[in-house]
Amino acid sequence: MRVGLGSDHAGFELKEFLKKNLKKEGFDVIDYGTHIKKSVDYPDYAERLTEGIQNRDIDAGVLICGTGIGMSIAANKFKNIRAARCCSIQDAILARQHNDANVLTLGGRLLGNELSLEITKAFLETPFLKGRHLRRVNKIKRLDK
Ligand code: RB5
Repeated sequence: MRVGLGSDHAGFELKEFLKKNLKKEGFDVIDYGTHIKKSVDYPDYAERLTEGIQNRDIDAGVLICGTGIGMSIAANKFKNIRAARCCSIQDAILARQHNDANVLTLGGRLLGNELSLEITKAFLETPFLKGRHLRRVNKIKRLDK
């Protein structure tokens, strides 16, 4: 599975931690930046990573800012993106099962590294349930047009 990671300065350290650990777990990781700790603007990284999903360069993405809120607002502006800000493993499982979310957003200033890794693995490993949820996700997809 090809996973994209992106962050601003507030999510940089967590992004580096996730990159190392997801690679260890066997995921194919593409890093969309930021690559240094200098202050940057999170919408720029949301744009780069979501383009990767639209072009099918990656199967799913993880975007990290201070709270995960700015990244989710920005990512959800792009076509075919369903970004979910998750603060728990249960959030991540339900975002996949019910919403077929393709981008996870995390708060680098709010969550610890280990919990973030568990949330990320739950997100990447949980399949979409389809069924009645597919009808609802299709209605969201129609809003994109
Ligand atoms: C940057 O200071 C901070 O505003 C940003 O990382 C994010 O939390 C915005 O939602």
